[in-house]
Amino acid sequence: MAAAKPLLPVVVLISGRGSNLQAIIEAAARGECPVEIRAVISNRPDAEGLQNTALRGIRTLVIDHACYSSRESFDLALMTTIDTFEPALVVLAGFMRILTPGFVRHYHGRMLNIHPSLLPDFPGLNTHARVLEAGCKEHGTTVHFVTEETDGGPAVAQVRMPVQDNDNVTSLAARVLAEEHRLFPLAIRWFAEGRLSLDNSHVLYDGRALPAPRQLEPATLR
Ligand code: GRF
Repeated sequence: MAAAKPLLPVVVLISGRGSNLQAIIEAAARGECPVEIRAVISNRPDAEGLQNTALRGIRTLVIDHACYSSRESFDLALMTTIDTFEPALVVLAGFMRILTPGFVRHYHGRMLNIHPSLLPDFPGLNTHARVLEAGCKEHGTTVHFVTEETDGGPAVAQVRMPVQDNDNVTSLAARVLAEEHRLFPLAIRWFAEGRLSLDNSHVLYDGRALPAPRQLEPATLR
């Protein structure tokens, strides 16, 4: 009998709804994302995602940023806690905090984020509204390694999709989110399988520097 492949130990950070976390848990349960989620940590005690029944059996913790007097002291507490779980990868799944340079450097090459835009376009908040306001014909989502520049780290993979004439923020956000739920577990899978890494500032995929983020066809084209 072939030995079971080892699972990549990960810690997932959330701040809110946690739908990407749920997608990762479901992909892992289907055998499509070989990770062991050692802990889920929220910086908000009221994060909706903490109530998700999909988290049953997974260690969940709250480190409330409001209880810390500075970004540095919060990040230090967060880092110390994360490291007790010895993750090989830290996953930012809707973690809505600006991280200090020391924290980011500590997880260099082993921290992934998902962002709801085609980075480098539209870093920051309210991406769907800004895309519509700008009259863009295309939108999407990006998984990237986290560096000190918020939403600015080397991009790993994207899903691009057309913006429809009748789109509003709600419809666009829903389509992008559905693609995030496919894209993030897949990118994490590549990392877990050793296919994806960061060499200084270059993303390596199967040992070669990616000239551009990998593009996935959208499943939700309509
Ligand atoms: C997602 O749109 C993600 O791209 C962004 O925050 C949102 C989190 O959603 N970073 P959820 O909490 O995973 O549902």
